[in-house]
Amino acid sequence: MHKPHPTPQRLADICVVGAGYVGLTAAACFAALGHRVRCVENDQRRLSQMRRGETPIYEPGLDGLLREGMSTGRLTFTSEIDQAVPGAEVAFLCVGTPARPDGHPDLRQLAAAARQVATAATGDLVVAVKSTVPPGTCEALQLLSDDAASPDVRISVASNPEFLRESQAVSDFFHPDRVVVGADEEATGSCIATLYPSEWPMLRCDRRSSELIKYASNTFLALKISFANEIAGLCEHVGAEAVSVLAGVGMDQRIGPSFLAHGPGFGGSCLTKDVSGLVATADALGYDTPVARATLDVNAWARGRVVDKLATLLGSLAGKAIAVLGMAFKAGTDDVRDSPAVTIAERLLAEGAAVSTFDPVAEPEALRHLQHPDAYSAVSGADAVVIATAWPEFAQLDPARLASVMSGRVILDTVGVLDPAAAAASGLDVILPGRSAMDTFHPVMVRPLEWALDAVLV
Ligand code: UDX
Repeated sequence: MHKPHPTPQRLADICVVGAGYVGLTAAACFAALGHRVRCVENDQRRLSQMRRGETPIYEPGLDGLLREGMSTGRLTFTSEIDQAVPGAEVAFLCVGTPARPDGHPDLRQLAAAARQVATAATGDLVVAVKSTVPPGTCEALQLLSDDAASPDVRISVASNPEFLRESQAVSDFFHPDRVVVGADEEATGSCIATLYPSEWPMLRCDRRSSELIKYASNTFLALKISFANEIAGLCEHVGAEAVSVLAGVGMDQRIGPSFLAHGPGFGGSCLTKDVSGLVATADALGYDTPVARATLDVNAWARGRVVDKLATLLGSLAGKAIAVLGMAFKAGTDDVRDSPAVTIAERLLAEGAAVSTFDPVAEPEALRHLQHPDAYSAVSGADAVVIATAWPEFAQLDPARLASVMSGRVILDTVGVLDPAAAAASGLDVILPGRSAMDTFHPVMVRPLEWALDAVLV
């Protein structure tokens, strides 16, 4: 049975600019809540796909909502901002804010969208910024909008950051931990807040605080992952099990278990970009953020560690055949932006290895020539295999079949999807980062434990 969607506090005509992960999810989900939504997308290929009821991105549940919205007539698509804005009460800006080489986000698409929306407005309009931006951006967009709008139109710019995760975007929209609305005027904040159901947790604050909440949240998530990776590395040195250590740490309710999975480092379109954005914003103001900087440094180290470990296991990488399984930045998505798997494959190529790849849905453009139609074909003849993305189907791989097609024995399972005992039974050597042989007493332990030996010797 189809679960009914929750009811918002009121229904409105809204416009969503940009139909990427954030915009298309917001547009389809707002339409499911009952709002009338006009979604603006200027890429003609994506536009015609959406008009046919197809989602241009792989996102579970989104195509159903898209077709539902289109069939009720509440969700429409256009490439023309001036057709979408007149009559709308709120325009959500959901365009990309990609990272520049200096770490600051490139806000040109956002500024252009804000200007076009303000120019197209024929009546008072609230502009809600969903794109992730540095604090102060809404105020800059306010000035720009005041300048572009006709004198009888009042534009109020507010911040309403989006926290959705790719592959769980629809469920995140309908079950938010919080909806944040940052506005400097009560009426503007209420106009946005009441578009959501009253039972959803809501935080109302000023615009700069709202903008910083998004940066700080993503930085904290990234920091938890880097911490997990640092501790996993330490586990290898002291002979402890990272999975147990991190589970034990996460059971403390003050810490919590999520975002403590160690692996090849974080990737995707947001975490690196937003931590870099926070660091760059602080730098520009003469304020240092060493914790955020270390988070990025540890992440780069975590990716490199995978290749270094492989080099140690194989003696050298030059001329070795290595299969990388999983190219998406995480399981459940076709997104390869800032994917650790891509960095690993590129570094292996740079070290002279012959690389073959497989992913159930993702296909990085630059590495397309390495892609195989299935996992067994990719690992065929491989000296070693790296599992870089935790696709559940990798857990179903038949170890005997893997062993029979591979040339070597080593599988570096960076995300812990394989059953090492079953693989060992087929003669495979599954290496799990964050784990080391505990049967020998590591000499390095003697120095810090000298006090204990002294006590035994007297
Ligand atoms: C993230 C934020 O979670 C979301 O709130 C924000 O709006 C956008 O950025 P997303 O990029 O979709 O979402 O992916 P997420 O599920 O957060 O994972 C990010 C990266 O961290 C992935 O590479 C993932 O594999 C990695 N990760 C996540 C870990 O390495 N360990 C973990 O414990 C969790």
